[in-house]
Amino acid sequence: MKVLVFDNYEAASEHAAQLVEAQILENNQSVLGLATGSTPIGLYKNLIEGVKARGISYKNVSTINLDEYIGLPREHSESYHTFMAENLFNHIDISIDNTYIPDGMSPSPEEECVRYEENMDRVGPIDLQILGIGSNGHIAFNEPGTDPDSLTHVVELVASTREDNARFFPSIDDVPTHAITTGIKSILRSKKIILIASGKGKAEAVKQLLSKEISQDFPASYLWNHNDVTLIVDQDAYALVQTEGQ
Ligand code: GLP
Repeated sequence: MKVLVFDNYEAASEHAAQLVEAQILENNQSVLGLATGSTPIGLYKNLIEGVKARGISYKNVSTINLDEYIGLPREHSESYHTFMAENLFNHIDISIDNTYIPDGMSPSPEEECVRYEENMDRVGPIDLQILGIGSNGHIAFNEPGTDPDSLTHVVELVASTREDNARFFPSIDDVPTHAITTGIKSILRSKKIILIASGKGKAEAVKQLLSKEISQDFPASYLWNHNDVTLIVDQDAYALVQTEGQ
């Protein structure tokens, strides 16, 4: 795992964008794995700027998102469909037919998982996967205890994840209880992975990740089983690692 530490969120986001754009310049038909949450918003802002400022085109790019809440209609303000439209897709020249996000309103979420995994096989492999990290070490919605051999599956969100995400909803009772998420195995099939962590709230998680202990209790630790992972952190998220090392 390559660890890159930046002064702040802006610098970290800018660097992540440079890596994504380098991937697209290398292969304009790249398949990107995309994440939601607060963390990648800065990256997406930079990618939007890159369309005009650097002439980057997403015309032939495909994207596969990590997860979606179950029970939120696509047009709900907090669905990951809406998040991706507002924070990226509406502002770049991507064809919406080339973007994939699980359908959280499927009458059979289990069948949707199978369909989504088939999509990944057909469209993929993912050339470059973007990840954030939950404060409990989750990646996508793979909560602690997730099987490392997991493919796309239905997950019940743990209390801490619902609390973390309650800031986006009127109250915690409005946060969905379940989600569809790509699995650990689905994520590790990506050719390259970038994990971004920013802010003090992620400092414990980054410290745990960099302890290199691989454990089912901390899903992000499975990234140590992949040979091309770049961790992009800002000083706040790296703070506990530095303190311990001095
Ligand atoms: C969310 C998403 C993850 C994301 C994580 C951290 O619930 N399912 O993909 O990485 O939690 O979110 P944030 O970046 O807002 O801290």
